[in-house]
Amino acid sequence: MARLGGEATLTSRLLFFFLLSTAVMGGSKTVETRRSVLGNGLGRTPPMGWNSWNHFHCNINERLIRETADALVHTGLAGLGYRYVNIDDCWGEANRDYQGNLVAKRSTFPSGIKSLADYVHAKGLKLGIYSDAGSQTCSRTMPGSLGYEQHDAATFASWGVDYLKYDNCNNPGTRPRERYAKMSYALRNSGRNIFFSLCEWGVDNPATWASGMGNSWRTTGDIYDSWGSMTSRADENNRWASYAGPGGWNDPDMLEVGNGGMSTEEYRSHFSIWALVKAPLLIGCDVRTISGDALEILSNSEVIAVNQDYLGVQGKKVFGGGSEEVWAGRLSGGKVAVVLWNRGSSRATITARWSDIGLSSSTVVSVRDLWARATIGSVRGQLAATVSPHACKMYVLTPR
Ligand code: GAL
Repeated sequence: MARLGGEATLTSRLLFFFLLSTAVMGGSKTVETRRSVLGNGLGRTPPMGWNSWNHFHCNINERLIRETADALVHTGLAGLGYRYVNIDDCWGEANRDYQGNLVAKRSTFPSGIKSLADYVHAKGLKLGIYSDAGSQTCSRTMPGSLGYEQHDAATFASWGVDYLKYDNCNNPGTRPRERYAKMSYALRNSGRNIFFSLCEWGVDNPATWASGMGNSWRTTGDIYDSWGSMTSRADENNRWASYAGPGGWNDPDMLEVGNGGMSTEEYRSHFSIWALVKAPLLIGCDVRTISGDALEILSNSEVIAVNQDYLGVQGKKVFGGGSEEVWAGRLSGGKVAVVLWNRGSSRATITARWSDIGLSSSTVVSVRDLWARATIGSVRGQLAATVSPHACKMYVLTPR
């Protein structure tokens, strides 16, 4: 997918509209997409950080959050950009206090959320929290924010929260776009710039309406730590590629790298594709005990650079014959990122043709292999490689 226009200036606290002209890579179809952008200045590139849910579910406490912040720093992950430390479901008491405030669970978060925010801020990190556009959160262990949007946004701002993930459970059946708009408005009036992550699982096609409301929106149901779950999330998310851009991103759910349910090559594929499609890079494992393999994958600065590329174009599947796939996307400076992905169970030679990835047939490129960390000389017309089962190769092509 090549985007022909669509750079926008993010103007604080203003909603504005601009035209994105997009052309299907390798084809002739051009789609005009009118896209609004939430002007809170956040999410210029996809968010990076950690979230408690995929590994810990409800088994969380303030010590875990502090130790994770410490681990992000001492593993070097924070320095690579993983700055959000996001607390998911189950952080609160079952009931609001007599003034209607959400209250951190006394048994697990006795120091309160503000003290955690102060702790992570002192390390140069940011704190994220979780609520729900319904009467209770998905775990049913704490209240949701429906009907309390202004109140809760003010609470989060007063605690120094930087990011809100907003779930969709236990809602009264009204449209997500109405319920999420209320929290978006409340956050924008909270006096603090808070990244707004919509989590309505893609049920109401949020890519088509959420960019004026939030900085990211889930396009899928929950990811699980398996090859089948991960690949299906990638495919579902892919259809919305043209709707992502600076300020607002499609979210195929958080990373499972390091949780143990996939092989190292499968995790490398997971991370490569998430990076290419400009997904939020939210680590979902226990960073305190992370394996060397997982740390090596999550720390590849060249793959991260693709995700964080300033142009903000979501890469997409451009060729998918059987189990051999080519995914590609434009980067700034005329470069192109390419993933050759073998989704089958035997070794395969996969070829990216220039016509598939938006280069003219005469273009000569230098090829950087991001996992081998090696540069291959001049290449023209196509790029082919033999790829192991469930593995991928990831390249950046630079026209010479
Ligand atoms: C789900 C959500 C998950 C997690 C969970 C918490 O709805 O998609 O990512 O937040 O709720 O209960």
